[in-house]
Amino acid sequence: MFARLEEIQQNEFIKAAIDRVGTGVVITDPEQEDNPMVYCNKGFQEMTGYEAEEILSRNCRFLQGEETNSVDVERIRNGLEKRETVHVELKNYRKDGSMFWNELHIFPVHIEQMDQVYFVGVQKDVTYRREQEELLGHYLSEVKRLSTPIVPIQDSISVLPLVGTFDDDRLHQMLETVSHHVKESKEDYLILDMSAVYSYDEAVHMGIYQMNQLLDLMGTKLVITGIKPTFAIQSAPYADFGELSLQTYATVKQALETLRHEINN
Ligand SMILES: Cc1cc2nc3c(=O)[nH]c(=O)nc-3n(C[C@H](O)[C@H](O)[C@H](O)COP(=O)(O)O)c2cc1C
Repeated sequence: MFARLEEIQQNEFIKAAIDRVGTGVVITDPEQEDNPMVYCNKGFQEMTGYEAEEILSRNCRFLQGEETNSVDVERIRNGLEKRETVHVELKNYRKDGSMFWNELHIFPVHIEQMDQVYFVGVQKDVTYRREQEELLGHYLSEVKRLSTPIVPIQDSISVLPLVGTFDDDRLHQMLETVSHHVKESKEDYLILDMSAVYSYDEAVHMGIYQMNQLLDLMGTKLVITGIKPTFAIQSAPYADFGELSLQTYATVKQALETLRHEINN
């Protein structure tokens, strides 16, 4: 009798603890038709807006909707078939129709006394994190776009002011944008203005080198402006630019005066 009471108390304690874990927890029974939910904690009810009585005995797919990725659903289906652990993030819908991102872990649990496998699902609402990631992705692509601001000055001349620091990614992005621009506009000259570049390192050096090669192939001349005297010293360890025969000017204004003169003659 006492042992039974202790068991009940222990079960109540575990139930109360699972209700407070801060995530959704559900158990499904794959021995029953369509693998229905046989348990859900308070966290799951709060996250989805459904009461337990409304959803127990239903398959969890009722949370899916129009924008749920079918590839993720297929991954779940395949994982369950093989009795494997599944981890996906998918769009689900609350009772009021609003969408949330569900980080879902499912794992099979074998209960020895019953010699039966149940599935335990742990759901976490990660909508805030997903929205922040989306926003960050949007800002990063905006920064990429703004990091190669090509300014057309006249029909055959454009200026690209270099600002900030460089790495392989940025260089790659710049070359892509420049080649696209030159292909569209068929410039005679591209002025690369370096007055806002404060330290000359290998990445900048390679940037100029590769841009010159690219433009050469496309029939556009690269002109460099704004080179500081210190760059000559800082560029010493890298390959010599001598053979590139680049046109350089102190300022964009000076370059434009000369180039306009060249074009008109
Ligand atoms: C324990 C468990 C928890 C699940 N929880 C969710 C869930 O929170 N959201 C969801 O969209 N699907 C969930 N599923 C997946 C669906 O119940 C179903 O397995 C999935 O949609 C693939 O099967 P179907 O193609 O027959 O729909 C869960 C599955 C199990 C076994």
